[in-house]
Amino acid sequence: MTTTDDAPALDRKKVRAFARHLFGVYTGGALTFLIDIGHRTGLFTAATAGAATATELADRAGLQERYVREWLGAMVTAEIMTYDPATSRYALPPEHAAALTGDGSKNMAPMAAMVPLLGRNLDGIEQAFRTGGGVPYSAFSPDFTGVMDQLNRRPLDELLVDAWLPLVPGLTDRLTAGARVADVGCGTGHALVLLAAAFPASTFTGYDIAPDAIARATAEAAAAGLTNVAFEVADVAAFRPAVPLDVVFAIDAVHDQADPAAVLRGVHDALVPGGTFVMVDMAASSDLAENVGNPFAPWIYAISTLHCMTVSLAHDGAGLGAAWGEQLARTMLDDAGFGEVVTHPAPGQALNLIYATQRPSSSR
Ligand SMILES: C[S@@+](CC[C@H](N)C(=O)[O-])C[C@H]1O[C@@H](n2cnc3c(N)ncnc32)[C@H](O)[C@@H]1O
Repeated sequence: MTTTDDAPALDRKKVRAFARHLFGVYTGGALTFLIDIGHRTGLFTAATAGAATATELADRAGLQERYVREWLGAMVTAEIMTYDPATSRYALPPEHAAALTGDGSKNMAPMAAMVPLLGRNLDGIEQAFRTGGGVPYSAFSPDFTGVMDQLNRRPLDELLVDAWLPLVPGLTDRLTAGARVADVGCGTGHALVLLAAAFPASTFTGYDIAPDAIARATAEAAAAGLTNVAFEVADVAAFRPAVPLDVVFAIDAVHDQADPAAVLRGVHDALVPGGTFVMVDMAASSDLAENVGNPFAPWIYAISTLHCMTVSLAHDGAGLGAAWGEQLARTMLDDAGFGEVVTHPAPGQALNLIYATQRPSSSR
């Protein structure tokens, strides 16, 4: 059926349904800011002490009642918290508290900070859409360092040693016996601090291009009294460690590199024959069609457009993007000279895939 001007007739139900969907997207964006506020101010944690009126909750958290009451209106109507009109009390259901509070890897509240952070450079991103290039890492600094730290710290605490390492046959034994280990793009270095404490016979060096991240990493290692871990400001595209390495980690740090092929080749060349490379990266397909229906894919493409891809393109880089995907990753690992690649969904981290591979005994 067509209208008089030959434009296809619109299915009004579909238009309404899509408009509702779109409004849900916008609402999710706005609510994410409020979840970030709830996390920053301690409101979610305060709510775990039991049902409370707005005044009681504000007092518990040391905040202004008027702001807390408005925030609670959003939390209740968004079905994050509940409201009992009979008592004027608000509550955070325990199942919701499990996803918004605590020191465990299931606390998703720190992730909310990523949205306002990525929204900070929209003018620059718009410009890059028009002219090419990108927005460099420095435009997201120093806050990006802290947000990444908060995003990954709890999962690393809970999962790195006990759930991720055992996926790679022999890795825990190798680290226990004593290995030379590096982490490329180490950020605030928490992964290596955990490993250095767990494996005192091994020595660890973390490399990152961001001086603020390395300063935090060095301070954390010193505060923990660790003498088997060090951190250096370095561009890992020119990764040439002084000694051959037994194990290298790259955690969420390859896809946003300006020159990821050089990084992978550098890691390969730095390893001893038989040395292990563990790369944690986004779980996605390199084929968009295979990502349709993946509930995490819109997030991966969105953060990629707003950060991961643009920071690479800002330096005329490869601009792989966060959704570079397993097929391309395998091709690039092969091109860099690595042997068989085994992947595992990262336990406790649905967004990530763990790649494990070795430098072959006889390398190209
Ligand atoms: C997404 S963050 C991940 C940080 C950390 N591995 C984690 O899991 O929290 C990527 C890191 O790579 C670093 N990076 C980007 N390009 C780099 C380069 N060429 N050399 C060294 N580090 C780089 C950034 O500064 C950032 O800390």
